[in-house]
Amino acid sequence: MSMLTVTIDGKTTTVPAGSTILDAAKKLDVDIPTLCYLNLEDLRVNNNVASCRICVVEVEGRRNLAPACATPAADKMVVKTNTLRVLNARKTVLELLLSDHPKDCLVCAKSGECELQTLAEKFGIRESPYDGGEMSHYRKDVSASIIRDMDKCIMCRRCETMCNDVQTCGVLSGVNRGFTAVVAPAFEMNLADTVCTNCGQCVAVCPVGALVEHDHSWAVVDALADTDKVVIVQTAPAVRAALGEDLGIAPGTSVTGKMAAALRRLGFDHIFDTDFAADLTIMEEGSEFLDRLTRHLNGDQTAKLPILTSCCPGWVKFFEHNFPDMLDVPSTAKSPQQMFGAIAKSYYAELLGIPREKLVVVSVMPCLAKKYERARPEFSVDGNPDVDIVISTRELARLIKRMNIDFAGLPDEDFDNPLGESTGAAPIFGVTGGVIEAALRTAYELATGETLQKVDFEDVRGMEGVKVATVQVGPHELRIGIAHGLGNARKLLNRVREGEVFHAIEVMACPGGCIGGGGQPYHHGDIELLKLRTKVLYEEDAGKPLRKSHQNPYIIELYEKFLGKPLSEKSHHLLHTHYFKRQRL
Ligand code: SF4
Ligand code: SF4
Ligand code: SF4
Ligand code: FES
Repeated sequence: MSMLTVTIDGKTTTVPAGSTILDAAKKLDVDIPTLCYLNLEDLRVNNNVASCRICVVEVEGRRNLAPACATPAADKMVVKTNTLRVLNARKTVLELLLSDHPKDCLVCAKSGECELQTLAEKFGIRESPYDGGEMSHYRKDVSASIIRDMDKCIMCRRCETMCNDVQTCGVLSGVNRGFTAVVAPAFEMNLADTVCTNCGQCVAVCPVGALVEHDHSWAVVDALADTDKVVIVQTAPAVRAALGEDLGIAPGTSVTGKMAAALRRLGFDHIFDTDFAADLTIMEEGSEFLDRLTRHLNGDQTAKLPILTSCCPGWVKFFEHNFPDMLDVPSTAKSPQQMFGAIAKSYYAELLGIPREKLVVVSVMPCLAKKYERARPEFSVDGNPDVDIVISTRELARLIKRMNIDFAGLPDEDFDNPLGESTGAAPIFGVTGGVIEAALRTAYELATGETLQKVDFEDVRGMEGVKVATVQVGPHELRIGIAHGLGNARKLLNRVREGEVFHAIEVMACPGGCIGGGGQPYHHGDIELLKLRTKVLYEEDAGKPLRKSHQNPYIIELYEKFLGKPLSEKSHHLLHTHYFKRQRL
C-alpha cells in the first residue's frame, strides 16, 4: 500500500493512500471539529455526506477551503487547521446552522450532550446575526420509543445512514427543501405507523436534539412516590458496562455493584437483575432448540430450523415486517425483559402475597426498542402490563444525578433474591454472540449429559457483522450463524431463504449487540467505547463462580416450586409468545 506524507499545522505524518485529511489529523492528534461526519470503522458505518462544512481547513496551493472529512490526503500535502480564515469560516457555518435552530437549549433533551451546542460554546457564539430565517415548526412525532423534533434537525444525514445503510429499514429520508427540509418517514407518517424497529440507532448518532428517546424517568419518580405500590427494578446486562460513562467513571469499568447501590438509594423496594431472566431465557430457548433439533433430525417436517433467537425486540419487529413467511422459525421464547415481567407479576407477586396490580416493574435497558416491546398488547394481562416502565441507561444516569447520589462514592452492593442471581452466561447476552454462547453451554450439557469443560466458545465472539461457526454438541455438528445490525441480519436470513443450512442463528439489532444499544450513553463516534463495554461483560462472565444458566440455584428453585420444567404448560403460558405479520411500508 502506498503511503502519503502529510503535514498539518507543522506536524508531519504518513497515512495510507485513500485516507482523508481528517484521518491524517486524527493520527497527529490535531482536533478538527465535525458534525455530519460519522465513521465507526470496525462496524463499517460511514456517513460521509460532507454537508455541514464545519471541518473546513486550508490546503496549500488550493484556493477554496476544503472539508477535511471528505478531501483525500495527497502526498506532500500541507494543511492548516488554525488560520483566521478557517476560524471565521467555521464561525459562519455555526451561525448559519443556528439561524433557524430553536434556541430552547434550557428544555432540550439533548442539552449538555448536543454536538452543536458544544461547538457553539467552543466558538463563543453569543448572537445570531442571520436570525430571521423561517422556522419550520414541524409537528413533534412521539412513538413509544423515540421523539422526533425536526425543528432541531441540521440535515447531517447520520440517521439516514444508520437506518437505511446499516439497518436496511429504510424509514428515514430527506424530504422538502430549504427551511422546511426534514428527515422523515415516507409520506411524513409517524414513526409508530412505519416499519421502524425502534432500535434507536438513529437516536444514538443524531448530534442534536432532533431524535431523542421518549424519556420515562419522571414516571419512575411518580411510581416511587406512590406508597400504595411495591416498585421493583430489573437491569439489563449491558447497562452495567456503560452506566459509569455518564457518571464520571472511566469507560471499561463494571459498575454492577454501584448500580445496585444507587437503585436502592433511589428508593426501589427490591433490586433485581434481568440477568436472572437471561438464565431463564436460556432454559426455555435452549430446551426449545434441542426439542426442535431432535424432531428435525427424526424427520419431523414441522420442526423448523434454524431456530432464530428472539430476545431482541428490534429484531423481532424487523422480521415481522420483512420475513412474514418465516414467522414460525424464531424461538417462541420471550425476551429476558418480558420473561422477568411475567415471572415478577405471577411468581413473585404470589410470594409477596399481593395482586399484580400492586406491583410496579421498572426496567433499565440499553435499548429503546424495549420501551415499545413492553407496550405490545400480548404482554399484558387484563390491561395490566408485565413491565410497567422502561428507562434507558442514559435516563437512569440522569435520575441518579437528579437525586444527587454520589455514584463514584457508593459501595458495591448485591442484587436482591430470588430474582437477582445470575450465572456468567447472563452478562454476555449484552454483546453480539453472547446469547448463542450461553445457549451452547446449556444445550451441550442437556444434550450429552456430560460436563462441558471449556465454556468459552471463542468462534462465536468478535465484531464481524456476520459470523459463521461450526460447533460440536455431542453427536451433532451444529452450524451457527450470528449477525449484529439489521442489515447483516437481512443478509444472513436471505442466505437461509436461499437454502444454506444453519441450525441456530443469533441476531441482535444494534451494532455490537446491546452494548451499542440506542439507549446507551452516547458514543459520539468513538468505537473504542463499544470494545471496552464488551470487555466488561466478558470479564463479568469469567469472574462468576457458575457460568452455565442451568446451574443458577434460583432458576432451579423457580422450576421446582412454580414452573415445573422448561417448556411445561405453565412455562409456555408465561414465557413464550407468538409473532404477527406486519405491513412492509
Ligand atoms: S429506530 Fe431504527 S428503524 Fe426506527 S427510524 Fe431509527 S434507525 Fe430506523
Ligand atoms: S435528525 Fe439528527 S441525525 Fe438525522 S439528519 Fe437531522 S440532525 Fe442529522
Ligand atoms: S440489540 Fe439490544 S439494545 Fe439493540 S434493539 Fe436489540 S435488545 Fe435492544
Ligand atoms: S464534518 Fe466534514 S462536512 Fe460535515
